[in-house]
Amino acid sequence: MKLYRLTRHADGARATLTDAPLPEPKAGEVRVRIAAASLNYRDLLVRDGVAKGNGEGRIPLSDAAGEVDAVGVNVHRLAVGDRVAASFFRDWTDGPFHARYMNAALGGSLTDGVLAEHVVLPEHAWVRLPDTLDAMAAATLPCAAVTAWHALVVRGGLRAGDTVLVQGTGGVALFGLQFAVALGARVIVLSSSDDKLARARALGATDLVNYRTTPEWDAAVLELTGGAGVSHVLELGGPQTYQRALNVIGAGGRIAQIGVLTGFGPQPNLARLQGMNADILGITVGSRAHFENMLGFIAEHRITPVIDRVFAFDDVENAYAHLRAATHVGKVVIRVRA
Ligand SMILES: NC(=O)c1ccc[n+]([C@@H]2O[C@H](COP(=O)([O-])OP(=O)(O)OC[C@H]3O[C@@H](n4cnc5c(N)ncnc54)[C@H](OP(=O)(O)O)[C@@H]3O)[C@@H](O)[C@H]2O)c1
Repeated sequence: MKLYRLTRHADGARATLTDAPLPEPKAGEVRVRIAAASLNYRDLLVRDGVAKGNGEGRIPLSDAAGEVDAVGVNVHRLAVGDRVAASFFRDWTDGPFHARYMNAALGGSLTDGVLAEHVVLPEHAWVRLPDTLDAMAAATLPCAAVTAWHALVVRGGLRAGDTVLVQGTGGVALFGLQFAVALGARVIVLSSSDDKLARARALGATDLVNYRTTPEWDAAVLELTGGAGVSHVLELGGPQTYQRALNVIGAGGRIAQIGVLTGFGPQPNLARLQGMNADILGITVGSRAHFENMLGFIAEHRITPVIDRVFAFDDVENAYAHLRAATHVGKVVIRVRA
């Protein structure tokens, strides 16, 4: 079979296509023939060596979906022919998060990921898919969608009538937008581009702010909310957006701290948080149980993941370049099986 490994060179890192023997599942393990994978901003961080460890030789990417084609002994949840997706934290199946789950995040620099024709993982690391989602759509979900779900619904307690601020039109942002609209919340979207904002409007966002032409977007958001601010922020930008996110949080509001699009280490002034009796929720993707509950919601509300572009399996380098260019809306997908 073929798979990709991250290789480091004098002129930077690359995903390098390699031959490998077909892996056999051991006891408790399940092998999946991968149909599609998707890229996340995190995959750029891992490739650039920003994430923990060097990652040399690791199989990249956390997100993939396919069909079970072999099972080891003592496998009880899944059988050959089942359609599944990978769960981002291999070992976080349910319950509270533990720090030990972190190093086994798929496609990080310490644990192999899923950009391969066949992937073997413990059976607990696979999520069974509903018939309503094809492999391409399912491959968009493990990181971005679960993160948005965990942030807004599980920890954020989002309800009809709430107001959500979404930053940008990438993967996490658009899933956040779609979940919030399905729940009856009002959605304000920030974007660098009016064309992208028009796409967000078509998905149900009612309020749109271009942060290039309106750099003081916090003032615009306060105006849109009659000065009250928003109940939820999906904070994706980091240092360059954090203070403005705090400036717009409303009474009892919740900021989900998620992203690093403008770098690491925000140093915000927390006075408004205290004054508003608001909370910051630290979010790192989510568990398999979050993923499974989210799949029920996606089926019930007929949510279709927004796929920007699909790349062929031998064109992975261009898929990375496309994500880095940040002209996309929604998710960038790789078709693994033709
Ligand atoms: N904590 C976690 O578990 C977790 C999980 C998933 C993702 N993340 C993080 O969340 C962020 C988004 O991830 P993703 O995979 O959804 O990324 P993505 O699909 O690559 O989204 C990138 C988009 O973000 C928008 N953006 C860039 N700079 C911005 C800024 N200053 N203000 C507002 N929007 C900005 C741009 O959209 P526009 O052109 O429309 O502005 C850009 O196209 C990343 O930092 C990622 O590392 C964290």
